[in-house]
Amino acid sequence: MPQSGQQRGLFITLEGIEGAGKSTQQEYIARLLIQRGHRVVQTREPGGTALGEAIRSTLLAHTGNHAISHDTELLLMFAARCQHVDEIIRPNIEAGITVLSDRFTDSSFAYQGGGRGIAAGRIRSLQQWVHPDLNPDLTLLLDLPVATGLERVGRRGESDRFEAEELEFFEAVRSTYLDMAAAEPQRFEIIDANRNLAEIQDNIRAVLEKRAIV
Ligand SMILES: Nc1ncnc2c1ncn2[C@@H]1O[C@H](COP(=O)(O)OP(=O)(O)OP(=O)(O)O)[C@@H](O)[C@H]1O
Ligand SMILES: [Mg+2]
Repeated sequence: MPQSGQQRGLFITLEGIEGAGKSTQQEYIARLLIQRGHRVVQTREPGGTALGEAIRSTLLAHTGNHAISHDTELLLMFAARCQHVDEIIRPNIEAGITVLSDRFTDSSFAYQGGGRGIAAGRIRSLQQWVHPDLNPDLTLLLDLPVATGLERVGRRGESDRFEAEELEFFEAVRSTYLDMAAAEPQRFEIIDANRNLAEIQDNIRAVLEKRAIV
């Protein structure tokens, strides 16, 4: 569905554990959207702005003995997100441009909530503060077994501060994602990411067509 200047752009997010294929599929989705007449901005979290990318580097770096507390991690995620919403996401959507983001607030519920154990109510209060009236129109949850995802990213070499977590952490992240998808079926689509690229892309295209997005 081509977007005119007056029409609000769509906000589409990609979620899933490490190695699920978010970055890989983002390229495919962007190409498909552009082919079908959308104007598209691709972005990611944490990051998406100069400040956000600086926060990302801090959050992903190994900190040695100087552990980042769970609350600090959550607040930094939302500080980066606040800048991202104000500088990139909202202005583009308002200009009729479709924003495709690799991760958004669902990642905070899954990682800082499910993974780290911060109460969901705390995360919801930050969500209410930072983007009370902005939610993704569609969230594609790329789901696969934790071991498969970690095996895929393992081939990438050096692991970041999150990738160095235990299996149990990622199991909690994955199951939090699945719970959120079950609770909000109108926003989420679960994509079985434990398949080859062509099958996953066919599935994503079918979902976007079913929802009259492309
Ligand atoms: N369906 C697939 N089958 C096999 N390998 C895949 C598949 N999708 C992606 N990969 C490979 O797995 C690795 C991780 O994929 P990708 O970087 O897209 O995951 P990601 O979800 O963005 O991970 P991260 O959260 O760590 O950024 C890459 O090397 C990619 O080429
Ligand atoms: Mg990625």
